[in-house]
Amino acid sequence: MRFLDSLLKKQLVGLDIGISGIKAVEISSEKSPRLLAYNRIPLNWDTISIEGEIKDRNALVQALKKLFSVGNFSSKNVSVSAFGRSIISKRISVPMMTEEELDEQLYWEAEQYIPFNTDEVNLDFAILGPNTQTLAQEPKMDVLLVAAKKDFVNSLKSLVKEAGLNPVIVDTQAFALGNSFEFNYHSWLKEQGCTTAVLIDFGAGSTKISVIEGHQTTFSRDIQHCGTQCTEIIMEKFGVNLEDAERLKIEKASDPSIRPLLIEYSHLISDEISKSIDFFLSQANDRSVDAIFTCGGGVNLLGLNEVLKEKMPAPVYLLNPLKHIVGTGHQVNQIAIQEIAYLGAVATGLSLRKSGDH
Ligand SMILES: Nc1ncnc2c1ncn2[C@@H]1O[C@H](COP(=O)(O)OP(=O)(O)OP(=O)(O)O)[C@@H](O)[C@H]1O
Ligand SMILES: [Mg+2]
Repeated sequence: MRFLDSLLKKQLVGLDIGISGIKAVEISSEKSPRLLAYNRIPLNWDTISIEGEIKDRNALVQALKKLFSVGNFSSKNVSVSAFGRSIISKRISVPMMTEEELDEQLYWEAEQYIPFNTDEVNLDFAILGPNTQTLAQEPKMDVLLVAAKKDFVNSLKSLVKEAGLNPVIVDTQAFALGNSFEFNYHSWLKEQGCTTAVLIDFGAGSTKISVIEGHQTTFSRDIQHCGTQCTEIIMEKFGVNLEDAERLKIEKASDPSIRPLLIEYSHLISDEISKSIDFFLSQANDRSVDAIFTCGGGVNLLGLNEVLKEKMPAPVYLLNPLKHIVGTGHQVNQIAIQEIAYLGAVATGLSLRKSGDH
């Protein structure tokens, strides 16, 4: 059924709505994929709060419209990432059961683990494997549970529709990033003999840490240290507004009055990341971390890379979301490619999702 096939395999544009801007990436679904289109529209500070609450819905709709009016995208079908604190993920331990059984029992199991009423959430899960830590008689397995508030997902979908787009998939940022990583680095990990990688996305509103073991995202945690918090420190210190403080952070980073603040913040954020990695490692005896991959605009923070290299328990690399992309469409220029290299990892992972997936 070729007609049905083409309906099921809709070309998807990956749409990453970040606190500081919206990024969209389109990758062709050929065997050797090409980057077909990219665009980014910055958002004002007051459009989405640092907690991920939409403050100016209309501005967001207009930004989405603008993004697609000049972006040369071939499709209006989008795979969009949910953001903010309406999504939580947790690694839980449940009695051994099949995927079908877990699907049936999920809401009951989840009740004990999530801070929301289960009626108010959409739940998803990934079975990670047998739990080797419990000494209990009954064998258990580990499951990654993801809960997204229905209100938030519905409101996100209707916002995307209002901008004339069709939301086909709503994913979490951690899974989207994991997808981008898996696509680009799976063979690299094998060649290097690595099994566990930590991905760190330095965003404007939060820093997102996730762990990939084999093919799966098995852990994810957001920390509140982020690009905007660093900007706020400069804002307070110099008594300037957020826009000016942001400019100082980026354009005057080497200035003797700014530099020490940025280095100090790099240490602060690296120490918080270390704590999360230590927590992940402490959850089982045989865990180790083989490699750390970074992305997000905050990777450019002066000193951060050096501090991370000093403090992380494994080599640190910049995640290249275009590593396995073999070419580009006519409309994609060098500036876009450079920007995607640190801003486009989540959007690339979203665009690589297949519309039949969910
Ligand atoms: N040269 C630079 N030095 C320091 N920080 C930078 C630099 N360039 C960009 N940033 C920071 O990167 C952040 C934006 O990155 P990004 O677009 O990945 O965030 P976002 O996706 O909007 O945020 P979030 O994922 O938290 O919603 C901003 O905080 C910005 O200040
Ligand atoms: Mg982001």
